[in-house]
Amino acid sequence: MVVLGVESTAHTASVGITDDRAQVLGLASDMYRPPSGGIHPREAANHHVEVLPGLVEKALAAASVRPNELDAVAFAQGPGLGPCLRAGATVARMLSLAWRRPLVPVNHCVAHVEIARALSGLDDPLLLYASGGNTQVIAYGRGRYRVLGETLDIGIGNFLDKLWIGLGGTFPGGPALEAEARLGTELLPLPYSVHGMDVAFSGMLTATLALRAKGVARPDLAYSVETTAYAMLTEITERAIAHRRKSSVALGGGVACNERLRGMVRTMAEGRGATMFAPPRSLCVDNGAMIAWAGGLAHARGRSVPVERSAVEPRQRTDRVLTPWREPPGPGTAR
Ligand code: ATP
Ligand code: FE2
Repeated sequence: MVVLGVESTAHTASVGITDDRAQVLGLASDMYRPPSGGIHPREAANHHVEVLPGLVEKALAAASVRPNELDAVAFAQGPGLGPCLRAGATVARMLSLAWRRPLVPVNHCVAHVEIARALSGLDDPLLLYASGGNTQVIAYGRGRYRVLGETLDIGIGNFLDKLWIGLGGTFPGGPALEAEARLGTELLPLPYSVHGMDVAFSGMLTATLALRAKGVARPDLAYSVETTAYAMLTEITERAIAHRRKSSVALGGGVACNERLRGMVRTMAEGRGATMFAPPRSLCVDNGAMIAWAGGLAHARGRSVPVERSAVEPRQRTDRVLTPWREPPGPGTAR
């Protein structure tokens, strides 16, 4: 099964093509970078409309695939920013009609999870999905992915981005903070907000900006924020592993690019005798290949929609989407 996937939920417009072994045959992406401040949904959508046709051509050329060799066209239906989602969906509908290929809607979060699972080769890992808008600990159970814990306010990535902009930087904040944190030495106390398997970041955002206003050095703030925020994520991941008796954990989402987070989760997992996997960075961040791959899984189970029933769903939740391609865990497998 060869599928073309269109991703456009937020900053990144991307087109990917995958085969039935999750090999990425072609991938072309272009990220909208606001000159200052946060994202403006309509400006990002305009960017996506401009770049997507070229990205489709690039991905097809990289994959050496012709449209009539595709089995389906998949697109990210949600969650995401309405105008951005509509830009990608419009392109996918047009390609589906022009090429007479089935149109397959995909949940963006499930796509992050599925590409991590496919690349890891792990059958039933716990998943830590840490991106801009989302922070969730996820496990499969009875027909769909269940959210065991999540952020109670903003996503970890949005927190890092807002913080970095507040410290005088530009979007995206995560990678820049990672570099800055390497220069830090002092661990400052910051609000550590874990509630069962949920987390919250807005208290840490306020506290860190207040420390900056008092003149605390930026590298020490970055170091302390990374240490505290990633310890929170590691703690809820460990709690979920323990409760679900999992023997593996996979990471996904843009923040899973972070070396510190990878290292902390790996140390925790290995301490419990579990394995840890993180995809290559190009497939942690938003990308069309994960949409293509998840679309292929759904399409293999007969999923496709007519254009008139392909509306985007900006608030679509991970645990609302059925995942019939996942067999229930076999007898003896911890749930
Ligand atoms: P979603 O819709 O899944 O929430 P998204 O639109 O936020 O996704 P992603 O590409 O999954 O997009 O994640 C982008 C986020 O990842 C940004 O907040 C960015 O700062 C963060 N990020 C990227 N690289 C790193 C890094 N090395 N360390 C920490 N954060 C990072
Ligand atoms: Fe994402």
